[in-house]
Amino acid sequence: MKKGQIYQGVAGEIRFPNRAVVETEEGEQCLVDNVIPGQKVEFRVEKAKNGRFQGRLLQVIEKSEIETAKDVCAHFGVCGGCLYQSVPYIQQLRFKEYQVRSLLDRVESDYKWEGIKSSPQQYAYRNKMEFSFGNEVKDGPLTLGLHRRGGFYDIVPVNECRIVDEDFRKILMITQMYFRAFNLPFYHKLSHEGVLRHLLVRKGLATGEIMVALVTTSGIPQDILGGFTTSLQSLSLSGELVSILHMKNDNPADMVQSEETTVLYGRDYIYEQLFNLRFKITPFSFFQTNTAGAQVLYDTVRGYLGTTKDKVVYDLYSGTGTIAQVLAPAAARVIGVEIVPEAVESARENTKMNGLSNCEFLCGDVLDVIDEMKASCEKPDLIVLDPPRDGVSAKALQKIIQFDVNRIVYISCKPTSLVRDMEILTDAGYIVERACAVDMFAGTYNIETVAVLTKSRNKGVRA
Ligand SMILES: C[S@@+](CC[C@H](N)C(=O)[O-])C[C@H]1O[C@@H](n2cnc3c(N)ncnc32)[C@H](O)[C@@H]1O
Repeated sequence: MKKGQIYQGVAGEIRFPNRAVVETEEGEQCLVDNVIPGQKVEFRVEKAKNGRFQGRLLQVIEKSEIETAKDVCAHFGVCGGCLYQSVPYIQQLRFKEYQVRSLLDRVESDYKWEGIKSSPQQYAYRNKMEFSFGNEVKDGPLTLGLHRRGGFYDIVPVNECRIVDEDFRKILMITQMYFRAFNLPFYHKLSHEGVLRHLLVRKGLATGEIMVALVTTSGIPQDILGGFTTSLQSLSLSGELVSILHMKNDNPADMVQSEETTVLYGRDYIYEQLFNLRFKITPFSFFQTNTAGAQVLYDTVRGYLGTTKDKVVYDLYSGTGTIAQVLAPAAARVIGVEIVPEAVESARENTKMNGLSNCEFLCGDVLDVIDEMKASCEKPDLIVLDPPRDGVSAKALQKIIQFDVNRIVYISCKPTSLVRDMEILTDAGYIVERACAVDMFAGTYNIETVAVLTKSRNKGVRA
């Protein structure tokens, strides 16, 4: 194989993150992302090193025989959001389980694999979406949607997106229609000209409360925002629109963020409910995007921690404090640590609202806050780790190890980061006792993994 050349082959085994070994008729192998086993594909070799090749998918020539799912989303294949929708859900779960398990098996051979738990909802499960303004083709009409698969600039209108409910679709469509009428330009990522950037929609799936946040540059004519609010309010929605926000963002970085937020209607937060707890969610605070799936995930964490009676639990990387509050009723004390001040504020408010007095939250980088905790907090009996995709930094992990707790429950949305950290923890005397995967992202290749690590003196004692 040669770099830059185009080949055809059939996709075989997949490795996380959905990277398949594609074999040509001549028996040459290349890793290609975002294909489904059994598909015949055309790809270009982009990297070649020491006889190993990595390629980019150009097109699917023949479908795989496992692509038998009915009722597939109209945007599937074009939209960059979902990758597995053409495959029946049970098969999607097998793909994800295989990818996670083959990674974990490399680190630990003697642990109990407890399978993959499905998402309670296969469709309409998302409580948050970030849509982008752009166009579908160069100089085409203004479009609001998601990025084209493999594309950085083109935006696909996703009026029939299946992973959100009808309310999201109605809000998306009316926003696009409203701004098309004003002929306002979208913000170009390269030239940094234009006005319309993103639309953030959040919906409490248990409460029905909806937040819509329009993100534009400060070049937006202020007098058209009133009409935007009125057109959103004219929609007949199954949920209740309680928050309409305008966010100014002149920063050239292509991120959904706000330099100044104005409330156009209602409040700047929504409530969501998990189990019997209520959570206040602000525009940028982390909250699991699949509410029903989060209950399965947190139930798994609860089960993996075992008895928490009279125990002090640290919930590191606590977001809006969901895990801490789920655990608090059955624990002596739970202490959460989170870097985003807005999320910590919400966590504290949520704790009060839920009547929990044994739960506290510290704001800052886990790496630094741990030092303060050693000096001023009760020592933990159990630790929950739920870091962002890149996992726990090596320095922070060393400090966590020094707490010498008997049991750590590690939740990860990127199993490659999890296994890297598991290696450090096993070198420090922990063993992986049990693990499972929880699907929170049906239709996509994303997956959560939960692992229990115990001090090796407990080896052989399964909880
Ligand atoms: C995967 S989320 C988990 C949130 C929470 N456990 C939940 O289930 O909703 C990771 C969280 O870690 C926070 N975070 C990222 N880096 C951090 C750091 N260095 N120290 C503390 N928190 C951090 C993020 O802001 C985010 O809220």
